Amino acid sequence: MQGTVEDVDVPSASDVLRRCRELVRPALVDAVGRLHPWTGEMAAYSLGWSDTAGTPEPGGSEGKGVRQALALLGAEAVGADAACAVPGAVAVELVHTFSLLHDDVMDADALRRRRPAVWKAYGTGPAVLAGDALLARAVTGLAETPGHHAAAVRRLCDALNDLVAGQAEDLRFEHRPWDGPGAVGPEEYRSMAEGKTGALLGCALALGAVLGGAPEPTVAALDRAGRHLGLAFQAVDDILGIWGDPATTGKPVHADLHRGKKTHPVLAALAGGSRAARELGTLLASARPTDAAAERVASLVEEAGGRAATRGEARRHLDAARDALRATPLTRTAARELDVLFAGLADRVM
Ligand code: IPE
Ligand code: MG
Ligand code: MG
Repeated sequence: MQGTVEDVDVPSASDVLRRCRELVRPALVDAVGRLHPWTGEMAAYSLGWSDTAGTPEPGGSEGKGVRQALALLGAEAVGADAACAVPGAVAVELVHTFSLLHDDVMDADALRRRRPAVWKAYGTGPAVLAGDALLARAVTGLAETPGHHAAAVRRLCDALNDLVAGQAEDLRFEHRPWDGPGAVGPEEYRSMAEGKTGALLGCALALGAVLGGAPEPTVAALDRAGRHLGLAFQAVDDILGIWGDPATTGKPVHADLHRGKKTHPVLAALAGGSRAARELGTLLASARPTDAAAERVASLVEEAGGRAATRGEARRHLDAARDALRATPLTRTAARELDVLFAGLADRVM
């Protein structure tokens, strides 16, 4: 991203993420410290703080901390101090960690952030339990927060229900055909992606605003912005799942193709009706692609315009997210930091 003269004082997306991570870290460490030592060890591993022996791993495989940053910026954007949103930031970060632990079990993905997924490192039962522990701690921590805790817990629970529904659709879609009457339509894809990824990003921003005492229309606008950001983010994630470099993403490539996941690039490619789309349809209808066939599927998806269409989708949702922010009265500095962060996230492939 190129800075212009008027943005010289705007920090980069990684500066914003770093500042927020530092503000939230003590409360996050405290929350994990309240878990049973065994689930706490798995949580610390999953958060990239330690290895499987429980030995601290400074600079390990920590996530970006997008959700915690959104919660803090949500509060700042409505004129409150970021400190009031720290319990919300902890809650969304714990929920995110829980959802990844369970997601890797559901998707049978053995690698996360360049390391064995928790279920691979500790076993499936323990990983499910560690996810449960994180979820319970997230809700408890928020319920114990003084101030607007009832509205905050309500927001988090709504997002959790959407996330679970999105994951249900994601799994059910694996067994749906690629074309014909049972095929997954664009609206169904969108609703699944908004649930599994958008709901928590929307919730993170909205929680910050709720804890900062913002009126409902502002909270709703931030939630909408976060949901669009989530849809852009998922489009990018779908692209990286086919063409990403595992050395950068830390996840295996083609896993979605092997499992028959209904991702945006493939659905968009099939909808094109070109020669490449027809060949792709025949290939996908015959069997779940093996390693060699997945390469062929990836190039047909590209040839049929699926990658370009998904980039367009990411761009449209990024624009919609930014529009939702601009249409809301927000403090200038936080609004600009949100804008930088939004662009940085979608920039992963653009
Ligand atoms: C993850 O969706 C959504 C949740 C964890 C709720 P994906 O399964 O598409 O994401 P990755 O590629 O494993 O991170
Ligand atoms: Mg997954
Ligand atoms: Mg999944």
